[in-house]
Amino acid sequence: MVIVRAKDYQDMSRKAANIISAQVIMKPKAVLGLATGGTPVGTYAQLIDWYKKGDIDFSQITTINLDEYRGLPKTHEQSYWYFMHEQFFNHVNVDESRINVPDGMNPDSEKACREYDNVIREAGGIDLQLLGIGVDGHIGFNEPGNAFELETHCVDLTEQTIKSNQRFFGDGESVPKQAYTMGIKSIMQARKVLMVVNGKEKAEIVKKAFFGPVTPEIQASILQMHPDFTIVGDEEALSLI
Ligand code: PGA
Repeated sequence: MVIVRAKDYQDMSRKAANIISAQVIMKPKAVLGLATGGTPVGTYAQLIDWYKKGDIDFSQITTINLDEYRGLPKTHEQSYWYFMHEQFFNHVNVDESRINVPDGMNPDSEKACREYDNVIREAGGIDLQLLGIGVDGHIGFNEPGNAFELETHCVDLTEQTIKSNQRFFGDGESVPKQAYTMGIKSIMQARKVLMVVNGKEKAEIVKKAFFGPVTPEIQASILQMHPDFTIVGDEEALSLI
């Protein structure tokens, strides 16, 4: 585990974007596992900036997103498909046919999940997986539980996650109660894992997840066992370690 200390959010974003761009420069056909949430937005903005300056080319990459709300169409502003296009894909030269996000509108959850596992397998696995972390230690939508779910699966979101994500939804609009998420095995099989984390509300979970026991109660804790895991955090998020 490598911990990179950043001064602030902008510095965190730049340092994380540097690692991603190094991956793409080294391997133009890289398979990038991507994440949504507030934390990686600055990382995407930095990558867009470098792309516009001609310093990075995304034309050959494949992207595989971690998760999607069940029941939200791609056109819904809060779908992760929409988020990723707004925050990143629409601004760079990634090939639309190589963008992968779980199909939230497939009502057959078994089928949706198995299809997504095939996408990951057929892409040859993930070269670099970008992650955020929830205040309860979730990665993707792998919520605290009794076991590490291995493959793509349908989850019931916890009250904590629903509450935390309510900020993105309009007044009176409710957060979906379920999501499709990549499993822990697929994340752990990524050849490199990069976590971005900022803000004091994440300090406690960073300490517990990476300096405490490995337990499915804190899903991110399993990353302690990953052979190439880097955390890029700002001062506040890393203040307790
Ligand atoms: P956040 O979400 O980046 O919006 O804090 C992180 C997560 O839930 O994975």
